Amino acid sequence: MKTVAVLTSGGDAPGMNAAIRSVVRYARYFNYEVFGIKNGYSGLLDRDMIKLHSRDVSEKLDKGGTFLKTARCKEFMTSEGVEKGAIILNDAQIDSLVVIGGDGSFRGAKALHDRGIKTIAIPGTIDNDLGYTDYTIGFDTAITTVMEAVSKLRDTSSSHSRVFVVQVMGRNCGDIALHAGVISGAEEVIIPEVDFDIDEIAANIKKGMARGKSHYIILMAEGSGNPFKFTKKLEEKSGIHTRLSVIGYLQRGGSPTSFDRMIATRMGARAIELLEEGESGIALGIKGNEIINMDIENAIKYRDKVDMEIYNLAGVLAR
Ligand code: F6P
Repeated sequence: MKTVAVLTSGGDAPGMNAAIRSVVRYARYFNYEVFGIKNGYSGLLDRDMIKLHSRDVSEKLDKGGTFLKTARCKEFMTSEGVEKGAIILNDAQIDSLVVIGGDGSFRGAKALHDRGIKTIAIPGTIDNDLGYTDYTIGFDTAITTVMEAVSKLRDTSSSHSRVFVVQVMGRNCGDIALHAGVISGAEEVIIPEVDFDIDEIAANIKKGMARGKSHYIILMAEGSGNPFKFTKKLEEKSGIHTRLSVIGYLQRGGSPTSFDRMIATRMGARAIELLEEGESGIALGIKGNEIINMDIENAIKYRDKVDMEIYNLAGVLAR
């Protein structure tokens, strides 16, 4: 019998459950025996796995988080760890694996591929920091969460005529700040990919308030520096009351948006199709509306580029 295992690894992202569901149901359709590995690569090294049937993924599509749980595993970053993982999969007679996670998880998947395990990688991270794909699973839900939070913060920003610095996640990538900034009409977006000038921002705040703005929202990506120091300094320079709101892990949770459910479902199914075609060492992504695939090795080499058209648009619309 054909066997496939699925695991989620790294930071969780809304839509991971939708991807697991799709992998399990599509694999069952093609008569695979399916295993779910708990806690990412760490669970693999602990042989923590369960058999999954179609009914086991009922009522999972709309749930945030990952019911298989996830972890960041240092041991799996070593060649001994990977070797041990490959041996465990071989012992369990599991010859193929679908990994859902970010770039660290992709490196693990590539290493297992190099040791003869057929692996397919699905991009699941709120950060959208993988350059080869337009979107990663979880990003759309995360920016929707930020959008809703900014709406509420704007109410209090207006009532008090205060400036709000809103720190969002994204590791070294500014995509959450940039995209959430555009869809929520933030006055400024600060991202690690573009240098900023605090004096210019302070001057913009004063000009904006003089023009009648009663609120001022600054979305700051976590990769752009210490938000506490920034907020204090900005208040000193502008002379206008400024507060900081760190949205944090709220961005990682919640029911996935329709977009995240759709791409997760399509990628989960495509992963099984690729295994059926005898492929391995492949990363899935989406370009336009098309599900694409490329060697994991190439996928992780792509540098994530900020979309300057969107960045410039955010700047113009905020004035
Ligand atoms: O990669 C997702 C992410 O939420 C990043 O945005 C953030 O920098 C990081 O994970 C936080 O990591 P941890 O869950 O280990 O605190």
